[in-house]
Amino acid sequence: MAFAAAAIVLTATVAAAQNLDAGKSPAKLFADGCATCHRSPRGLAKGRFTLTLSWFLKDHYATSSDSAKALAAYLQSVDEPPPRAAAKPAKKPARSAPPPKPVQSQ
Ligand code: HEC
Repeated sequence: MAFAAAAIVLTATVAAAQNLDAGKSPAKLFADGCATCHRSPRGLAKGRFTLTLSWFLKDHYATSSDSAKALAAYLQSVDEPPPRAAAKPAKKPARSAPPPKPVQSQ
């Protein structure tokens, strides 16, 4: 346990030396960098995988892959369940009657 804690502290210190965003909680990162445009972190992850999401974030916004990963995990943790889990199967439109056969005058 003590070793694990020391490793975490060490990692955090090293990351802090490289990246100004490190040390901020993902919630703070979101409030600082994302809330201007996205009013809520909810519903952004949209059931995506952490990896896909952190790639997106790294590509579009975050400066380091560390904060991208942290943000991705955060977005997922607050995300709503994927809509397909909650939604009922879509109703099929009622089948319309087959078109009437053209009346052929003889
Ligand atoms: C300047 C405004 C702006 C800021 C700041 C911003 N975003 Fe976005 N974001 C957008 C827009 C516009 C889109 C939709 C266009 C797109 O998908 O590229 C988007 C899309 C997204 C998506 C994909 C959502 C979807 O519907 O597929 C995610 C996830 C996301 N943003 C997360 C973040 C995070 C995390 C931050 C902070 C690091 C952030 N955004 C900061 C404007 C912003």
